[in-house]
Amino acid sequence: MGSGRNVAVFGAYGHTGRFVVAELRERGYVPVLLGRDQDKLVALVEAHPGLEARQASVDDAASLDRALSGADAVINCAGPFATTGAPLIEAALRAGIPYVDVAAEIEANVDTFAHFAERARAAGTVVVPAMAFYGGLGDLLVTTAMGDWTAADEAHIAYGLSSWHPTAGTLAAGMVSGRRRGGRRVRFTGGRLEYHDDALPTLEWPFPAPLGPQSVIGEFTMADVVTVPSHLAVPEVRTYMTAKAAADLSAPDASAPAAVDERGRSAQTFVVDVLVRSGGTERRVAATGQDIYAISAPLAVEAVDRILTGRTRATGVVSAGAVFDAPDFLRALSSHLSVHVPVDARG
Ligand SMILES: NC(=O)c1ccc[n+]([C@@H]2O[C@H](COP(=O)([O-])OP(=O)(O)OC[C@H]3O[C@@H](n4cnc5c(N)ncnc54)[C@H](OP(=O)(O)O)[C@@H]3O)[C@@H](O)[C@H]2O)c1
Repeated sequence: MGSGRNVAVFGAYGHTGRFVVAELRERGYVPVLLGRDQDKLVALVEAHPGLEARQASVDDAASLDRALSGADAVINCAGPFATTGAPLIEAALRAGIPYVDVAAEIEANVDTFAHFAERARAAGTVVVPAMAFYGGLGDLLVTTAMGDWTAADEAHIAYGLSSWHPTAGTLAAGMVSGRRRGGRRVRFTGGRLEYHDDALPTLEWPFPAPLGPQSVIGEFTMADVVTVPSHLAVPEVRTYMTAKAAADLSAPDASAPAAVDERGRSAQTFVVDVLVRSGGTERRVAATGQDIYAISAPLAVEAVDRILTGRTRATGVVSAGAVFDAPDFLRALSSHLSVHVPVDARG
């Protein structure tokens, strides 16, 4: 358990930040509540009496230094990460503490690897971008499916979401990424990111029962195209999204997630179905659960727990599959996630 260690959460009053704060408390950590809006911090403390809140802005490095003072690690839940990522990583490096974020922005994740890899490694610290549903979970599943392979021809990650009610943060992140791409699309092929204007293909993906085959949008490119190739030699990494969820996301009247249980989770369910292929051999693994925002909290908090207890395999800027024992990490989340290895893919 967290043994009372302090973990700072930037963007603590956001939708995902609240799940992270609750998860940290459940695991015996003491969240330090950070954000730019003093009124929202005060309201959050009312829900968590006794916790400390510290106002800080990414435009004010001294405020970030004060905010991280005494913290053992920081989880950044404030997106768009194109704005918040670099200032928070700089502050974490100055404080000498590990940094974990939930960024689903491909370009921001690329920037984190590009700009901070050497300094984080030299400092002997760990920076884990995209340690959430998109980016982190897919990478843990691909790494698990790969088993003893370190290279494969292709990795496919199919997202079977029952629906997608996006938060304001998700929509803002999508707009920022869209602007950075000049309205173009992105895919990972031939071992690199490729920007293009091709129409996205619609195809059928054979999700495992009980979901079964679903219409998906192909090349619906998510952060896994950064995390997976950061440590595995896979030249083709493709992600797919159920057509229904993709339509929800782009609907002009898209509504925010609504809580349906005592944990605050929405009714949204997900299957993440992973297929890796090398030569003529395929390996598969799938995970199912409820609410892509809620599941990001145990993913990020388990990452911090492993870092603070020395269960890591690398330093520097690292993805989940590179720095953690992926199958063991997924087993640790068994109260949140069901992981299935098809019978014909075992052994
Ligand atoms: N990889 C994944 O699977 C995954 C999962 C969950 C979330 N995310 C990402 O995490 C981010 C937050 O999502 P959410 O669902 O929590 O959205 P949200 O409820 O809208 O919260 C957004 C949070 O970011 C803060 N924020 C935005 N810009 C900021 C800035 N310049 N400086 C300081 N704080 C800033 C907001 O603070 P104010 O209220 O003060 O603006 C708020 O706390 C999004 O980018 C989303 O894409 C990714």
